[in-house]
Amino acid sequence: MMAKRKHNFNAGPSALPLPVLEQVQAELLDFDGQGLSIMEMSHRTPVFEGVLGRARDALIRLYGLPDSHEVMFLQGGASLQFAQVPLNLGSGGAYIDTGTWSSKAIKEANTIGHGAVAWSSKADGFTAVPQPGEALAVPDGAPYLHYTSNNTIYGTQFHHVPEAGVPLVADLSSDILSRPLDVGAHGLIYAGAQKNAGPSGVTVLLIDRRYSRAFHGAPTVPHILRYVTQAEKDSMYNTPNTFGIYVLALVAEWVEAQGGLTAMAARAEAKARTLYDVIDAYPGVFTGHAARHSRSLMNVTFTLVDPTRQAALLAAADAADIIGIKGHRSVGGLRASLYNAVAPASVDRLAEVLEAFAKG
Ligand SMILES: Cc1ncc(COP(=O)(O)O)c(C=O)c1O
Repeated sequence: MMAKRKHNFNAGPSALPLPVLEQVQAELLDFDGQGLSIMEMSHRTPVFEGVLGRARDALIRLYGLPDSHEVMFLQGGASLQFAQVPLNLGSGGAYIDTGTWSSKAIKEANTIGHGAVAWSSKADGFTAVPQPGEALAVPDGAPYLHYTSNNTIYGTQFHHVPEAGVPLVADLSSDILSRPLDVGAHGLIYAGAQKNAGPSGVTVLLIDRRYSRAFHGAPTVPHILRYVTQAEKDSMYNTPNTFGIYVLALVAEWVEAQGGLTAMAARAEAKARTLYDVIDAYPGVFTGHAARHSRSLMNVTFTLVDPTRQAALLAAADAADIIGIKGHRSVGGLRASLYNAVAPASVDRLAEVLEAFAKG
């Protein structure tokens, strides 16, 4: 029986491609003729190593990863990276503060040593990210500059790679696999998988071997928190999230089959335009949160000019099988997350509901 599926705009965990879910379902009881599921076998088997290799190779192909970099699969979410980055790359990193997740990264850096704020849009309600050429206050000798490529909560996104003359660290949690990116320009990229790349419980790292094959932190840092410990064991120093890595491999292969990151970027732009066009067409009804130049293609955030009508809009969305558009509690209003797996037809449906609401 065909499952009745919702138009899913959840911010994360979020929509997965239907063909991926169907493949998981088909392979669940008997993976690769083994007579058991992928969750029921040792990670130290050629079968699972093959799956991990598929996930890694698909990411290498998608990003055209340079030889200087490697792929790692860790646990603990992006939040653990807020601590692992300064623990491994050294204290004194500089941070671009563009909202909740950057702020949390800075907080962790400050528990370990000192995290310098190089730029902040806090005073403006985190409505923007720095624009190309804008000055960033990166202290001399900072071991890295950290930025959050897409701000899931505020709905802002970098549309360029910042430059600061120091190694770049990027949190790509909410826009990994959504567009091409020069990985070689970064010392380290990390992303929780649960938005564009798979289920929760896996963190993807695209990391310069300078950091994965040599440890630059303090001797008190536990081995489990050193990148080098995991890199030397091919991300299997301890038991990895085998199921998560398997689904991630399928998602990455699905992205390739769709035409890769360039195709994903075109699809994301078209979907986002559909919603922003409606928001902009009815300024008496909707207000976009982000400054136009910083608008995210992944998370469209907006409020109602008359907030007392919000419950009615959510009810209309619910009646149209649309879920997940209530904004994050720290911003309020509404947020539609348009990750790779959200079908253009779902976005069209949401646009229709918004337009009918605005006219009604
Ligand atoms: C940009 C960004 N960074 C970090 C996080 C935290 O991720 P995790 O829950 O995997 O630790 C999130 C979660 O939504 C996020 O959107």
